Amino acid sequence: MSNGKILELQQIKREFVMGTETVRALKGVSFDVSAGEFVTIMGSSGSGKTTLLNILGCLDKPSFGDYLLDGINVSSLSRNELARLRNHKIGFVFQAYNLLPRTSALENVELPLFYNPELTTRERRERALGALESVKLADREGHTPSQLSGGQQQRVAIARALVNQPVMILADEATGNLDTRTSYEIMALMQELNQQEGKTIVFVTHEPDIAAFSSRTVMLRDGKVVKDSKNENVRSAKEALAALPPAEDY
Ligand SMILES: Nc1ncnc2c1ncn2[C@@H]1O[C@H](COP(=O)(O)OP(=O)(O)OP(=O)(O)O)[C@@H](O)[C@H]1O
Ligand SMILES: [Mg+2]
Repeated sequence: MSNGKILELQQIKREFVMGTETVRALKGVSFDVSAGEFVTIMGSSGSGKTTLLNILGCLDKPSFGDYLLDGINVSSLSRNELARLRNHKIGFVFQAYNLLPRTSALENVELPLFYNPELTTRERRERALGALESVKLADREGHTPSQLSGGQQQRVAIARALVNQPVMILADEATGNLDTRTSYEIMALMQELNQQEGKTIVFVTHEPDIAAFSSRTVMLRDGKVVKDSKNENVRSAKEALAALPPAEDY
């Protein structure tokens, strides 16, 4: 049963035991995300953003509390079931792109499809090309990461996140290594995926000007939600891009 909520977090705690010390990274986080929302998670360094995102992405499990992904309580799943759920529902984008070096853009995007035994070589290729097209990089399919700009590498990473047609995209500081213009380009792409394809997006960022592109911001401090606010005036990243001074003035 999935009442339109794609994520439901109920009193999530995450503790890391380090010898005699316990780090309480999340101290009872509760909130829901509806399908089709574009949420940013903000908070200072160490506030628990990555820890939370890893739990949302089923890369890590809470120490306490319940997490329902599309109505399914993930704590009830085996490792294999969890991996399958993750593969089908979630696309990840990281700050450091995490692309394989010396491997073409197309092959990088194809990688997640190798876990899908139903696809033929040709279907894999077509799907990967389609994902590269959706981030406007079809003309760079043969380039390796070192032959691409930072923004292009991040777009390849986004194509890789999209190739399994996930319902949700999780991004951790995905614009953290990029200049303003390139960050806005990535955000324009995120807004397009959200508004035109209905992808749910949870996007971790430090930067208020990036959060302005989302329709809701959840603020963490010391492992707790201290603010959860709707953004009534979502900024258009396309318009923000158009308002930037020409590139050569940078
Ligand atoms: N694997 C781990 N083992 C022990 N402590 C951890 C681990 N992962 C995170 N922590 C601790 O949990 C807290 C939250 O870390 P987290 O990485 O979630 O912060 P963050 O908000 O993502 O910070 P940043 O903005 O710097 O990326 C920190 O105090 C961190 O030291
Ligand atoms: Mg982090």
